[in-house]
Amino acid sequence: MCSIRIEVGRKRQKMAVNNVVYVNEGGLPLNAVDWLEKHHQSKAQERLQMIHDLSLKQGSLVVDAGCGPGLWTPLLAQAIGAEGHIIGIDIDTESLITAQSRSNGSWYRQQVLYKRATLEQIPLEHGGADIIFSANVSQYLEDPVAAFAAMAPYLKRGGRLVIKDIDFGTMRFGGVDPMLQARVFQARERWERDRCAHDYAFEDSWIGSKLAGYLRAAGFEDVEEKTYRIVRQCPLPEDYRFYIQGIVEWFVCENAPYLSHHDVTCWLQCFFDTAYSVLDVADFTCEETEFVVSGVWS
Ligand SMILES: C[S@@+](CC[C@H](N)C(=O)[O-])C[C@H]1O[C@@H](n2cnc3c(N)ncnc32)[C@H](O)[C@@H]1O
Repeated sequence: MCSIRIEVGRKRQKMAVNNVVYVNEGGLPLNAVDWLEKHHQSKAQERLQMIHDLSLKQGSLVVDAGCGPGLWTPLLAQAIGAEGHIIGIDIDTESLITAQSRSNGSWYRQQVLYKRATLEQIPLEHGGADIIFSANVSQYLEDPVAAFAAMAPYLKRGGRLVIKDIDFGTMRFGGVDPMLQARVFQARERWERDRCAHDYAFEDSWIGSKLAGYLRAAGFEDVEEKTYRIVRQCPLPEDYRFYIQGIVEWFVCENAPYLSHHDVTCWLQCFFDTAYSVLDVADFTCEETEFVVSGVWS
């Protein structure tokens, strides 16, 4: 049973993670840049593997659609070699400025151009791209099929659209009361279905397993789905701990309308209690599966 209530409010002042979710100038709920960076570092090994598995051709022209702070640029640049080029597009100026300053002075700076644009209106002639890559963006698209179909003409014949995203239906915390987890996850999933009606922007954090169907519906062929199971256990690397604490807070943000106050308190206490956090318990594990789905445009 959970009994501490008031203390959690006090402890939240000390949390490592703040403003995990905010609304950017495009009106989208987004993860803060420092959280995105830690998230990226915490899954560096798997993300490197994801790009490796795409077998990108040397000299390709790649569009990084919804590039954010440009965290995938060096991975893509390495995969396409010095002759390849990347156009990073995003609707958020702050992210683009961060991406640009990250690339200034880097080994890949000559290969990348960042531009403010939407996924649907890429600043490139039709038939120009070998690959359109988009990571962690589809979860914000109200109509992913329409967006994927709008991106298709920018690809060469035989070019590929590659969408990478999360699916929180695959997330499990070992060492946390399974019934509490189930209630928290179900409440969030239900809230994501309803939140648009309450003036929040669209979000589907359960999208990963739906992507293959969406690509087929948008007219892509030879759709391939690759899954990456990401498991971490105690002792957790610092960047992964930061990521998990961000996720835990995010599950109960926006006042968690479909969760009881008691469950919210227990959930936060479980992960943030300074005297006893489940993150420090020897048998703690976290697992989730991320999806990379590609389709050919012919
Ligand atoms: C969660 S961030 C992911 C950033 C980056 N791809 C990564 O994985 O680190 C989502 C990004 O998608 C951008 N975005 C969302 N919808 C977009 C749209 N319709 N057109 C262009 N960018 C979009 C946001 O501005 C944001 O920078």
